[in-house]
Amino acid sequence: MTQLPAATLRRLEELRSEFDDLAARFLGYPTNQNFDYSALLPFLDYCVNNVGDPFHESNFATNTHDIERDVIRRFAGLMCLPTDEAWGYVTNGGTEGNMYGLFLARELFPEGIVYFSEDTHYSVLKITRVLRTRNIMIKSQESGEIDYDDLHETIRINRDVPVIFMANIGTTMKGAVDDVLRVREILDDLAIPRSYIHGDAALSGMILPFVDDPQPHTFADGLDSISISGHKLIGAPIPCGVALTRAPYVARIARSIEYVGVMDTTLTGSRNGLTPLMLWLAWERFGTEGFREIVRQMLEVASYAVERLNARGIPAWRHRNSATVVIPRPGADIIEKWQLAPYQDIAHLITMHHVTRNQIDRLAPDPVPTRPAHPARPARRRPGRAPPRHRVCLNEHIGSRPPAAAAPRGGGL
Ligand SMILES: Cc1ncc(COP(=O)(O)O)c(C=O)c1O
Repeated sequence: MTQLPAATLRRLEELRSEFDDLAARFLGYPTNQNFDYSALLPFLDYCVNNVGDPFHESNFATNTHDIERDVIRRFAGLMCLPTDEAWGYVTNGGTEGNMYGLFLARELFPEGIVYFSEDTHYSVLKITRVLRTRNIMIKSQESGEIDYDDLHETIRINRDVPVIFMANIGTTMKGAVDDVLRVREILDDLAIPRSYIHGDAALSGMILPFVDDPQPHTFADGLDSISISGHKLIGAPIPCGVALTRAPYVARIARSIEYVGVMDTTLTGSRNGLTPLMLWLAWERFGTEGFREIVRQMLEVASYAVERLNARGIPAWRHRNSATVVIPRPGADIIEKWQLAPYQDIAHLITMHHVTRNQIDRLAPDPVPTRPAHPARPARRRPGRAPPRHRVCLNEHIGSRPPAAAAPRGGGL
């Protein structure tokens, strides 16, 4: 191995030290910085390529398909997807998982219309352009959850066309969860015979399975595919995620695009073989109970952040089961210092596992006496409808907090 020039080493060291400095005040984005994959360093000596379908043979033998299948089974278990039906693969992140879900939906219903709320991640509009699917953006409530009345009316007008619904299982800015049971009620009410629901569960897909009163978020609730990020709650040095769906859907597309003996069921050809190893290692390390504890700690710090900010006179709030703390948009200096994520007149911090109470104290110093917070506005529901029941697939759920309070409009950081 040749020695690297001093200038090259210096540049690398400068970059590393910049990253170190940034890591100390990283509050705004949902990527957990607490991870240790040093056990995988030896695998950097190989070109590990998971090209092809992880559930089939591949001619490229230096792969981690076997490990990838284990990862998919773990996530399938979390999402109430029976093992014999479960199919999925490790993606490059949330966008690819969403694109995969909408690709399957488009293949099943080529003339379908994709419906999604204003609060949906920006990738989704782009995906509909790539896939050339018709799409209609639906109004959001102030909470970030979809406006069910607008959805009902818009589907009613187009009721002869299959519905492809993009459900937010935790919106990017507010952590709001669209109620998929309610969406199914709308589809039933309008007697829509052909529909497909994809869940964008980038962050909350690893929160909701571990709390005791989760919002609907699983295949048992009627989802047809789900995208969950790996580098968000779990944490990883390389962006990654999982796309999950039912094997029969994939069989339909695989038959039409299978070639030269390879099952080409994934979006990209060559695929990262290291990220499945990372997700697998994280599952080995933490298991269900470890993740449950991580989620408990995250939500506890989120609750502390809301209290602390409210005490400072800042109307911070969060949704039930969400680590996304929404605040009025602060000044550019604060946004830059703490790497907060701004959007129009709001910003958020997200209490990922690396975020400490001490950081929250430094973000919101000098508390003043607490002011009472207003309860969160309940989602609008049409009269006469009982709240839908949700099924969970883990045996026990512990550690969630009482419903979040939405604080009044007022001061800022
Ligand atoms: C709700 C949601 N969906 C999708 C994405 C896209 O994920 P990625 O950046 O991994 O492609 C994000 C990213 O933050 C997100 O918050």
